[in-house]
Parts: sequence; structure tokens; C-alpha cells
Amino acid sequence: MDKQPLRKFYEKNRLERIQALEQAKAISAEDAALLEKGLVLPDETADHMIENQIAKYELPYGTALNFLIDGKEYVIPMAIEEPSVVAAASSAAKIINKAGGFRTTVRSRMMIGQVALMDVPDPVRAKTVVIAHEEDLLQTANEAKPSIVKRGGGARKLEVRLIPADEKAGTPAFFVVHLHIDTLEAMGANIIDTMAEAIKPHLEERTGGRALMGILSNYATECLATTECRIPVSLLEKNGMSGEEVRDRIIEAAQFAYADPYRAATHNKGIMNGVDAVVIATGNDWRAIEAGAHAYAARSGKYRSLSTWSKAENGDLLGSLTLPLPVGTVGGQISIHPAAGFSKRLLGYQNAKELESIIVSAGLGQNFSAIKALVTDGIQKGHMALHAKSLAITAGASGSEIDRVAEKLKQSGTIDLATAKEILKEIRG
Ligand code: MEV
Repeated sequence: MDKQPLRKFYEKNRLERIQALEQAKAISAEDAALLEKGLVLPDETADHMIENQIAKYELPYGTALNFLIDGKEYVIPMAIEEPSVVAAASSAAKIINKAGGFRTTVRSRMMIGQVALMDVPDPVRAKTVVIAHEEDLLQTANEAKPSIVKRGGGARKLEVRLIPADEKAGTPAFFVVHLHIDTLEAMGANIIDTMAEAIKPHLEERTGGRALMGILSNYATECLATTECRIPVSLLEKNGMSGEEVRDRIIEAAQFAYADPYRAATHNKGIMNGVDAVVIATGNDWRAIEAGAHAYAARSGKYRSLSTWSKAENGDLLGSLTLPLPVGTVGGQISIHPAAGFSKRLLGYQNAKELESIIVSAGLGQNFSAIKALVTDGIQKGHMALHAKSLAITAGASGSEIDRVAEKLKQSGTIDLATAKEILKEIRG
């Protein structure tokens, strides 16, 4: 990629940005033409995706720049309605890029299918029996989905979890069997659910219990991706605040989010601003990723921050984020939604593990920008500048009026709709 054409990207208009991406060789000429038309989801496709479809709900689709992840440069697609998120991701990535970029690890990529059984007469004995029949049960699961086995994936391991009755909560005991399934490049919901349901009757027979359900778990603890960054304090100075002070305040912000669930929820929402935007742009199931992330945030028994920020021995700021990221690069809407297909080509990832690395890094970058702003200037300064533009549009401004109204709004010091309308009237008058 030639980064030169991407300079001052935010100052260009939409068509100029598309041209810049093409000149930078980040996209092909065919994709530039596709983008100009707007990555439109055909009506017929939309109609087949859900039931009772009557329209399409659109979101802005932007690109975050400057991302260097495991030595590779990326232009990252983000589908999101919230102002500031794309700008924040790009500015974090610029600093982290200068510091050597993100380094990621994706240890394993196994999905979990659960079968819950109840009224198992002797759970401890049943556990031994189920484990002794692991091979047969895995075979039954794999026979239910031979296509994934043919491609090199399939059910690999079985685990039994005994959840005792809780009299206080009024819940009975559950005998839970987990299937660990390699779904290869797919998120694999259908594969997992089919396998979990296929072993239900066999588990009833082996345990003497009654199967309640078989379904995937979105708490994908066998599919974790970690990203890390290391930022020298020289890159952290801000508006008269020394790099050391900014570093220490970022660390305090992370400690606050670790200690207080009220803050943790907002801190993690900032992370998910980055994560969800890429998950949506790449055609993945963001509700699944959200559910898994928040369950993971509560893994200690208390809801906490998902990221950590600490000080290295030499004084650098160290950031780290681990998330369950059961995303796919095939299946679902990935192959049918034009925007998801384009995102795949834009990112040029080789496999789902690489996509996980990109998404988790977008999350940490987003978090860095948010807490850095919070502990220095405050978040409103940057937000208000962008908010002024949307108010200008809401007030009825179009074309070059938008920037003129937004600029005057900022100068007025009263950033609200009534003032935006007055300014527009003035300009037009
Ligand atoms: C806003 O969408 C996200 C933030 O609230 C995140 C945070 O507080 O860390 C700015």
C-alpha cells in the first residue's frame, strides 16, 4: 500500500476518498466503482435474509487508517452511526503505529456447543460414563455434519460440567456437556447447533437424564484473541500535560474501570464501539460478539474492564485486550452482502484468526483514544465538533452549507439545533 494518497483523508469528500484508496492500492478499480454506487444490498437479497422485510436500514460505512497489526498495514472498515469513533480509531492507530503497532495472539479457535441435561440420577457416575464414551459421542456429532469433517474440521473434544442446584435462586442441578468444535473459517452456528442436538438422545441414554436443550454458547472461551501495544511516553504528551502524567492517568482510568462496574460498562462500551463497527462491516453477528464480550468481562464473578493498561519497567505504557471473537470469514451474510464482501477484500485477511487480530486491535485502539481524551481534554471537545455537523444537517443544511453552519455553530459556543437553524437562515438570507 502507498500511504501518500491517504494523507488528509478526512478533508476529502466521499468520491475523493474512494479515489485516494484506489491510488493507494488499498482497493481495486472494480471495488472503487462498486463503492461509488454505495455497496447497495439488492432488494431481492434483503428479502431472503429476514422475514417480513419491507426496507433496508442503512449505516454510514467509514475507514479507519494507520493500523499496523503484526507488522502489516490495514485500512479498517467500520459500519457505525456514532460520530468520533472512526476518527478516534485512526488517531489511536497513528500513535500506536509510531510505537511499533499492535502485536496479537490467537491461541485456539474452537467453538462450544452445549447440551444441558436435568434429573440425572447419579451425576458423578454419569460424568465418568460420558467421558468414557467421548470417542463415540464425538463420532455421532461428526456424523451429523460430515461436510465440515470432510473439509478438515469437526468435533474435537468433550467436557462435562456439573452445575449444582442453588436453593436460594430456586434452580435445580444441571448436567452440562460441552462439545469443542473446529468450525474452520465459519462462525459455525448451524454446525454447532446440529451437532449439539445430534448427541442429545445419546446423552440421555448414557446419563439416565432428560435433555433440555442443545445449542452453541456465545461465551466462546476457546476462541480468544489478544492484542497488545507498548507506547513510549514521548508519544503521549497532550496540551501541556507530560507524557508521564497522561500515562499515569490512563492507568488510573483502567484501574477505575476494573474496580467499578458502573465505569466498566462505559469503558467496555468504548471498546465495543471499535469492535462492533468492524464486526458489522465484515458481516458478522455483533450480538454474539457483544454477549460473549460482556460474559468474559464478568469471568471473575464481578463485571470488570476488558482491557488493562499498565506501566512497563522502562516507563512505557502497556495496553492489552483479550476478547472471545468467534467471527467467521465464510457463511452467514458474508458471501451475500456486498459490503461484507468488500470489507473482506479491503482487509485482505488470510483467515479468521487474522480477522480476530484486526477486530481486537480496533477495540484496544478505540479504548486508548477514549480514555486518553477522558483523562486529558475530556470527551466533549472532539464530540461537539462532529455533533455540530450532524446538527447542521438536521437543521436542513446541504452541500457546502454543512461545514459553514458547523463552523459558525462551534464559534457561537451554543451547539444546539435552534442555533443551527438560526445560522442557516442567516447564511441563506
Ligand atoms: C462513547 O461512545 C464511548 C465512551 O463513553 C467510552 C468511555 O467512556 O471510555 C467515550
